[in-house]
Amino acid sequence: MRSQFEDNFLFGAATSAYQIEGATSTDGRGPSIWDSFCAKQGTIVDKSSGDIACDHYNRLGSDVGLMKELGLSAYRFSIAWPRIQATGQGAANPKGLAFYDRLLDQLLGLGITPYTTLYHWDLPLALGEKGGWENRDTAERFADYAHCVSKHFGDRIANWATFNEPRCAAFVGHLEGRHAPGLKSLKATLAAAHHMLLAHGLGVQAMRGNTKTKLGIVLDMKPYHAIDDDPANELAARHGDTIFNHWFADPIFGKGYPVEVVEAFGDAMPLIQDTDFKTIAQPIDSLGINYYTRNLTRANHKLPYPHAEEVKNPAARYSDMGWEVFPAGLTEILTRIHQRYNLPDYYIAENGGAFPDKANEDNFVNDADRIYYMEQHLQAIAKAKAQGVPVSAYMAWSLLDNFEWGLGYTKRFGIVRVDYQNQTRTPKASAHWYRDFINGKA
Ligand code: NOJ
Repeated sequence: MRSQFEDNFLFGAATSAYQIEGATSTDGRGPSIWDSFCAKQGTIVDKSSGDIACDHYNRLGSDVGLMKELGLSAYRFSIAWPRIQATGQGAANPKGLAFYDRLLDQLLGLGITPYTTLYHWDLPLALGEKGGWENRDTAERFADYAHCVSKHFGDRIANWATFNEPRCAAFVGHLEGRHAPGLKSLKATLAAAHHMLLAHGLGVQAMRGNTKTKLGIVLDMKPYHAIDDDPANELAARHGDTIFNHWFADPIFGKGYPVEVVEAFGDAMPLIQDTDFKTIAQPIDSLGINYYTRNLTRANHKLPYPHAEEVKNPAARYSDMGWEVFPAGLTEILTRIHQRYNLPDYYIAENGGAFPDKANEDNFVNDADRIYYMEQHLQAIAKAKAQGVPVSAYMAWSLLDNFEWGLGYTKRFGIVRVDYQNQTRTPKASAHWYRDFINGKA
């Protein structure tokens, strides 16, 4: 299996700042929209927050040591914007920069390649209070932040992503209301989406002169498959698929918004200025894809456009998130995306599963379901590579059990168990399996 990947293929793990760092008011970090969202009643199922999370801010050295023990050759993390600019603008906070300097020094010292995301959903609250992503000016603020961090960290970061899953940040945060800022408006969603796209383009422009390493973005993707060949089901699946997989990617790769969806969204479409699509479509070097599942779709006209109801597949395995385990969808996404956009490089920025882990008295978890999940998806990547898709890295989600947004600490995605009582880290069977796989022994 390892032999199906080049020697220099990177096998890593991913995390994000708000989900693991904790220390939300330490060393001049300003509040983010997630701090205020968690403080509201009824937002997080277990009433928790990222205040402490995995306390990674104070456990940097041992966490990086753990990555080395697991044989990882790459680590994908995000920079917390409010650590760098507490209010989302102005001079950089030296203590915020110093934290990521320490992280990078340790990673590079141990030969672990850093992949970094600038925006994994923790918008400085001060910008949130001025309208957040609904406000076009937030895109300008993001470009300034991108300039500031790329100038400081430069070529020490091998691969930069402007955004993580802008689709999720826009739609789950502004339409479904399950994520910060908790809105339920299509108009707000499409404005936020547009300004994130604009921020991505302006951010890439701002970073180009500061680093010679790879620039790109991380998008979440999943195929929509109609449950049968009834034309109504096929139409719902096609429109669901277009919104999920192409609303962001099409403009980024110079195609503008998909026309049939623009028509359906009608009056809810945002204000688009003349040069916006040109700004958004900056050439990028690398696309990160987060892949977890597919959507099995049936048309349901009681639901708003695209009238796509997700239905269960009785024959399939499901994760603890209620997501179908569907590895073939990853081969499908990679080949389809490559055919449509023809990029020089792709990496899997997240892939993994929450499963109902049972720890023994030593905190050990024998997570055969997670091993199966990872193995099948690695196989799916190997298949896409065999068909000519240039994939260069795989990041397991996640290194550690962590704060799963609206679901708090109730879902565990880590290959390493975190005991939140005492912050003990215990590699699960999947971590041992992954290390053996990386070393060509599994
Ligand atoms: C994607 C997000 O980027 C990440 O933050 C989240 O924890 C995983 N999906 C699992 O839901």
